[in-house]
Amino acid sequence: MGKQPESESLTVRDNRTGKTYNVPIVNNTVSASAFKSMSAPKKEGERDENDTEKGLRVLDKGFMNTAVIQSEITYIDGDAGVLRYRGYPIEQLALHSSFLETAYLLIYGSLPSKRQLHTFETEVMHHSGAHSDAEDFFRSFRYDAHPMAILTSAFSYLGSYYSEANPSLQGQTLFTKRDPASISNMDKQIYRLIGKATTFAAMAYRVRQGRDFVTPPTGFSYTGAFLYQMDHLGEENYVPNPVLEKALDILFILHADHELNASCTTVLQTGSSLVDPYSAIAAGCASLYGPLHGGANEAVIRMLISIGKPENVPAFIEAVKRREKVLSGFGHRVYKTSDPRSFIVRRTADEVFKVTGKDELLETAMALHDAAMKDEFFIKRKLAPNVDFWSGLIYRAMGFPLDFFPVLFVVPRVVGWIAHWRQMMLQEGGVKIWRPRQVYLGSGKRDYEPVDSRPDAQIAPSPVVHSGITKRTNLASFKGKSKL
Ligand code: SDX
Repeated sequence: MGKQPESESLTVRDNRTGKTYNVPIVNNTVSASAFKSMSAPKKEGERDENDTEKGLRVLDKGFMNTAVIQSEITYIDGDAGVLRYRGYPIEQLALHSSFLETAYLLIYGSLPSKRQLHTFETEVMHHSGAHSDAEDFFRSFRYDAHPMAILTSAFSYLGSYYSEANPSLQGQTLFTKRDPASISNMDKQIYRLIGKATTFAAMAYRVRQGRDFVTPPTGFSYTGAFLYQMDHLGEENYVPNPVLEKALDILFILHADHELNASCTTVLQTGSSLVDPYSAIAAGCASLYGPLHGGANEAVIRMLISIGKPENVPAFIEAVKRREKVLSGFGHRVYKTSDPRSFIVRRTADEVFKVTGKDELLETAMALHDAAMKDEFFIKRKLAPNVDFWSGLIYRAMGFPLDFFPVLFVVPRVVGWIAHWRQMMLQEGGVKIWRPRQVYLGSGKRDYEPVDSRPDAQIAPSPVVHSGITKRTNLASFKGKSKL
C-alpha cells in the first residue's frame, strides 16, 4: 500500500507529553495498535497496573465500535437497513436464490454456474448422513434436554470422527495452507458441516419426540429433506408441504449470515487458535443459544404468550419502559432503522398462514409492533423489529416446538460461520490468535496470609440445599461426615 496522503490521517496530540502523532486512516479505519506508541511517564501515585509507560490501550466494551477482521462476505448498513451477501441485496436473493446457492455464494464468493451448483448440492446432500454411532450419542440425552444443548454438543462430537480434519493431530497449518489437497480437505469438512446440520437438528428433535431417526432421503431439496427427517413416520410417498419447504428455504437464506454478530465472532475467536472447524462451530452454536442473540426468536413467542390478548399490549409496553421487561425481537446493535430481513419474514409469514391458518398470537404481535413503532421510548432509542420478531410466529404456525426455534437459526447460520472461518483461515498473512487486552483495576500486589489467621473473605459462595440427600441421611452418622 502506497504512503497515505497527510489528509488521510488522524493527528493526535498527547497532552500528557505534548507529543503529536499521525495515525493513517485506511478504509475509514485507524489501527488500534498505533495508540500503543503513545506512552507517557507514570504520574505521581499512579498504579503500576495502568502500564502507562507501555503505551495507550483502546477500551471498547461489547465491541461497540471495534473492527477485528477485514472481510469481503457480508455488508450491513444499519442506518439504511441494507444487507448484502457478497454484494447481492438480501431482497434479491430471497426472491430468486435457494439456500444452497446462497451458501455457495457466501462461502466461495460468487454465484455458481448451474454445473457448479449441482455439484455442490450433490456433495452437501451426500454428506448429510450421520454415522450410526451418532444414534447412541443423541439417545444419551434426556428426552427433555434443550435441543440447543444437544446440537452444540453434536457439532463438537462430529469432529471426533475426523482425525484428518484435526489440526491438533495433523499439524497446525492443516487449514491455512492453500495447496489443492488442503483446500479439498477443507471443502470436505464444509460439505459435512452443512450436510449434517439438518440431520443433527432433526435427530435432536426426534429424541424429544421419542421417535426413531430418519435416514436422509434422496431426491429432496435441502429443506425438503430436513422436514422429511423431522416428521416422517413411515408414511408411503411422504412429501413435505411445498409452501412450508419454500418458506423454510427463504428463512434459511435470511439467517445464513450477518457479518460479525456474537456467534460468528465466537467462531472466529475460537478458530483463531487453529482448532478444528467442528469445535469452532460448536462454540458459535453455544453463543447463538443466548436470548440476546439467536434465542430471541424463542423469547419473542414466550413474550407474546405472556402478553396474551392485544388489549394487554399497552401495559406490557409500559413495563418495558420501566425496564421491568425487554421487548424481545426489537433492537439491534447495527440496524438503527429497520432490519431488512424482518420485512421479508413478515411477507413469508403471510404465505405460510395461508396453509397453516393464522397464529392467534399474530394479532398481539401486530398490536405490539404498531404500539412500539409509535412510542417515543423506542423511536428515541432507534429500536425496530429485527429478524427474530416475526420468524417465531412462522415457526409456531409450522408446528415447531418453542425451544426448537434457535435450532432453526443455527442450521442456516452454520453457512455464515463457515464462510467467515474459511476466509480467516485463508487470509493473507495467515492467522493470528485473537488475544484481546484488558484494563486491570483489581488489587495491587499483596502477600499471602496463612489460613489460620485469615478473617472471612468479603464474598463467599452461597450454601445450596442438597436435595439429593434425604433427611434420614442427614441424621445418620458415617465416617467423614462433615462436623461443620
Ligand atoms: C440477532 O448482531 C447480529 O447481527 C445479530 C443478528 C444476526 O443475524 O446474527 O441480527 C440476530 O441476534 C438479533 C437480535 C435479537 N435479540 C433480541 O431481539 C433481544 C432484544 N434486543 C436487545 O437485547 C438489544 O436490542 C440487542 C441485544 C439486540 C442490541 O443491544 P445493544 O446494541 O447493546 O443495545 P443496548 O442494549 O445498548 O440498547 C440501547 C438502549 C438501552 O436503553 P438505555 O439504557 O440507553 O436507556 O435501548 C434499550 C436499552 O435498554 N433497548 C431495549 C431493547 N433493546 C435495547 N429496551 C427494550 N427492549 C429492547 N428489545
